[in-house]
Amino acid sequence: MEQLSRYLGFTSQRAHQIPASGIRRFFDLINSVDGIISLGVGEPDFTTPWHIREAAIYALEKGYTMYTANLGMPELRQELARHLKYNCDVTYSPDYELLITTGVSEGLDLAMRAVIDPGDEVIMPDPCYVAYRPCVILAGGVPVPVPTGPENDFEISAADIEARLTGRTKAILLGYPTNPTGAVMPRDKLLAIAELAQRYQLLLISDEIYARLVYGVTHTCMSALPGMRENTVLLGGFSKTYAMTGWRVGYAAGPKDIIAAMTKIHQYTMLCAPIMGQLAAIEALKTGDASATEMVEEYNRRRQIIVKGFNDIGLSCFEPRGAFYAFPSIKSTGMTSDEFAEKLLLEEKVAVVPGSAFGECGEGHIRCCYATALTDIEEALSRMERFVRKYTSS
Ligand SMILES: Cc1ncc(COP(=O)(O)O)c(C=O)c1O
Repeated sequence: MEQLSRYLGFTSQRAHQIPASGIRRFFDLINSVDGIISLGVGEPDFTTPWHIREAAIYALEKGYTMYTANLGMPELRQELARHLKYNCDVTYSPDYELLITTGVSEGLDLAMRAVIDPGDEVIMPDPCYVAYRPCVILAGGVPVPVPTGPENDFEISAADIEARLTGRTKAILLGYPTNPTGAVMPRDKLLAIAELAQRYQLLLISDEIYARLVYGVTHTCMSALPGMRENTVLLGGFSKTYAMTGWRVGYAAGPKDIIAAMTKIHQYTMLCAPIMGQLAAIEALKTGDASATEMVEEYNRRRQIIVKGFNDIGLSCFEPRGAFYAFPSIKSTGMTSDEFAEKLLLEEKVAVVPGSAFGECGEGHIRCCYATALTDIEEALSRMERFVRKYTSS
């Protein structure tokens, strides 16, 4: 009997410690209602550009269906090294400083597991991407959120980080341009954080998956800052820039010993990123830039319309300069972000994600992805206007 009760709950304490994604809950609701306009999913509405798909199809026809090297295909690592040198002015050896991962998702997990010992603290902005906290917890670490808000343009400052340092602080995890706010960090603030990281010998883990999606501002690559190459793990990907979410490919760039530790975990858990994704990524790096530019221009058009639309209907919206999310405040409605998102979905059939899914400081906001057809954005705005009027006029 005692034996039986011991086995009733098989799931681990670690699994219990992490919540199910607040975004997932809304996906499930979306699937249960007809005629929905979704601003919920953080995914380009474009399909992967044809020339990238065609290159991958051709390679499959030639029989490229096998495992690759654990680090990833040599040709992809060479292209990536060239790309990082050209676009970010930072040099990595394709032989031991680059690892091709199954999306940035895997890169994040590997980085955490490779550097965190039980109880190590990782500082991160709040709100932030939904996976950051769980990845730290699953690696046995402790997430330490630093509040940010529209009053400081959702930027994290070196002083706020310094105020939270303890003897257990191991790393700072940044993700700029940011999901969910669209904030981009100015270079001078990143320089101050870089100086702090070096002074206290902290590792910087920088998720730059949205680096290419900036509007009227310049993205600064963390590892290209003076002295930072040796204490930064740079994570990047293909999902957003080239509309390649389903190909599951990304990369980590960093110092040799950290990449070696990440590769050890990767070889036992993933073995290698899917070869189809790697083949498509080679083509994307070689010839995908013009397509990326076209998509960025289109996102920028939609960004301007959605931000103006929110401000016009009384949902004050911080101007996002990167990624493809708007993060308006819904405080004027008196609802929590969860209530707002659920009611909006049921009453007006518009799906958004409650800001609380991204951390305590996300409360009072909703995340709206504008990688969605312009006609849908316009229709969603008009439904939201009706909804907001209903709840603010009484
Ligand atoms: C900030 C951020 N990092 C990582 C990811 C995961 O990207 P990938 O598709 O490369 O795993 C996402 C996806 O939404 C994201 O927004």
